[in-house]
Amino acid sequence: MDLERIKRAKPLMDRRFGMFIHWGLYAIPARDSRSEWIRSVDMVTDEEYQRYFDAFNPQDYDPKAWARLAKKAGMKYAVLTTKHHDGFCLFDSKYTDFKSTNTKIGRDLVKEYVEAFRSEGIMVGLYYSLLDWHHPDYPAYGDAHHPMRTNEAFKDRGERFDRYIEYLHNQVRELLTNYGKIDIMWFDFHYDDMTGEKWEATKLIKMAREINPDLIIDDRLGGDIRVNEPVYYAGDFGSPEQMIPAGGVRDYNGNPIPWETCMTLNDNWGYSQRDMNYKSSRNVIRMLVECVSKGGNLILNVGPDARGNIPKKSIEILESVGEWMRLNGESIYECGIADYEKPEWGRITKGKNAVYLHLIDQNQDTIAMPNFPYKVKMATRLSDGSTLSMSEPWNVGSYQGENIVFVHTPAFPVMDEIDEVIKLEIE
Ligand code: GLC
Repeated sequence: MDLERIKRAKPLMDRRFGMFIHWGLYAIPARDSRSEWIRSVDMVTDEEYQRYFDAFNPQDYDPKAWARLAKKAGMKYAVLTTKHHDGFCLFDSKYTDFKSTNTKIGRDLVKEYVEAFRSEGIMVGLYYSLLDWHHPDYPAYGDAHHPMRTNEAFKDRGERFDRYIEYLHNQVRELLTNYGKIDIMWFDFHYDDMTGEKWEATKLIKMAREINPDLIIDDRLGGDIRVNEPVYYAGDFGSPEQMIPAGGVRDYNGNPIPWETCMTLNDNWGYSQRDMNYKSSRNVIRMLVECVSKGGNLILNVGPDARGNIPKKSIEILESVGEWMRLNGESIYECGIADYEKPEWGRITKGKNAVYLHLIDQNQDTIAMPNFPYKVKMATRLSDGSTLSMSEPWNVGSYQGENIVFVHTPAFPVMDEIDEVIKLEIE
């Protein structure tokens, strides 16, 4: 990975915690395990899908409320699905009729999203699907995912893929020029031979960077960002999905590179009527800490419903994550990997002048860290600012070795059960 990409991705990586928003026509059928893939999984025809287009009317859509929630949760950036695989556009594109402005709601929903999040100081990202199951020039019959992949009637449709590519490029240009400066472009995804230059990716990214040289791009157009010199369009950060890789994401020489885990809050990206398999706030906080301790970000998903509301349960979880973040966010933002092995009692994150000990598996009230590489000036409890004693038990040398840093942590009833953060100021 080259330094230029690392530098470009830095403003995103400093923010550490983001909100992913999957929203579109699929919020109407709202089926578990199909959700935004319903057209493909159930092989739904264009005609059948049209009824969701006809019904789409999210009267409660209030992106300012979404943005306030994100902010409250401690999220510092967001990414919205401007077009998912079904091809439906939440923005007023010149190049299609299949867009929100032509539905009952009649509004450019991307424009409102961008303005709302920007005004809350949240970095703005746009998700754009490379796949398109609505466009007549996207390969259908025999494709791996297209809803009509087995429908003989689509065999000789005579698609002109070049026309689709032109459409894709035109829409990306619209997204990057019509809404002010966009911070992140999140393309999704490559498969089989639908990868890299098949999307005319070099040309696409040249155009994008001409419009905005600072634009931060994910790695899903194709190409490998873990090699020394990735291809031009390979992107700026890795995008593991539904998993936090062991050791984080590193290049083939073992050096950490920018990455972001994307994760659902329940089991679906798009809204689902019945999916109540939500992660707890404790789970979310610990995942976030794990990502940061490995040098990565967490972008956590919400799937607003057909009326435009984020599900109550999601709000509840995010608000409770926010309470922890309000007191402990300092150990997350602009923090990353520490020069110390993962300890038996939890995780460590490192900021500019401090190391943060995250106690999540702590059974005694003394931590001992042999051969700690930093010189510690002071230990405090992050959540209340009180100092902690660092005195040394008299005979410890006989059991634990040299150069040990000690911290006496708060007693158990006081400790935050989810993650008690100890701040060590270092020289
Ligand atoms: C996948 C899925 C998709 C989801 C995305 C999020 O590639 O196709 O539905 O939007 O990942 O990372």
